Amino acid sequence: MDLRLEHVTKSFGAQGSAVEALRGVSLDVSSAALVALMGASGSGKSTLLHLVGGLDSPTSGSIWVGEVDVAGLRGRRLVQHRRRVGFVFQAFNLIPGLTAEENVGVPLIPYTSASTAKARSRELLAEVGLSERLDALPGQLSGGQQQRVAIARALVADPALILADEPTGNLDSENADTVMEVIATVAAARGATVLLATHDPEVAGRCGRVVTMRDGRIVGDRSTDDVGA
Ligand SMILES: Nc1ncnc2c1ncn2[C@@H]1O[C@H](COP(=O)(O)OP(=O)(O)OP(=O)(O)O)[C@@H](O)[C@H]1O
Ligand SMILES: [Mg+2]
Repeated sequence: MDLRLEHVTKSFGAQGSAVEALRGVSLDVSSAALVALMGASGSGKSTLLHLVGGLDSPTSGSIWVGEVDVAGLRGRRLVQHRRRVGFVFQAFNLIPGLTAEENVGVPLIPYTSASTAKARSRELLAEVGLSERLDALPGQLSGGQQQRVAIARALVADPALILADEPTGNLDSENADTVMEVIATVAAARGATVLLATHDPEVAGRCGRVVTMRDGRIVGDRSTDDVGA
């Protein structure tokens, strides 16, 4: 799915003492692209991901996800938008008392039977290389494995857009590598668009495009195609 941000601003707090997290961000991302968002802490990466995912709304500007301007969505249409998006977070956010298979199936609970959810969860866990650990609880899995479960969960409802906020932030470099490989592979297999915030240049290097933010603005935008050109 294509993504287009037009002059997006976001302020938090009361006028006068407001924090301007985004100060006019415009960005075009083509369908099936894998884009890294870099920039210092506080530069606005997470805020941008939250707005695109419909977890929060901008102060001004438009956010086109496919044919829909997410900025104005409310109620049922907002819920529909969030269903098109898969979120992956730094802290995995798995439910401790549920097995890997159960965790992956959670987003499907309102929409499908338990047996369909189970079958679908198994498919996804196989795709991220965890067929052997279906019955493991999160606490019995390594950080990299937990993040792969979280990726499977993010994908279980077939999102066209994947938003990942420092998905490798809690992982060592070897696990970070595996997780990036999984994200790139599963996204490519579906033609899903990925927007991924990271502080790690190696992780960013695996993305086809690197957008750099500073103080709520985009200050750099580089495609790997440009390298050496
Ligand atoms: N809910 C909020 N209320 C008030 N200020 C906020 C809120 N969320 C974010 N901010 C502020 O907006 C700015 C951008 O924050 P954001 O979380 O987007 O940065 P970031 O680039 O993701 O940083 P990090 O790399 O540390 O995750 C910061 O100044 C932050 O303090
Ligand atoms: Mg952040």
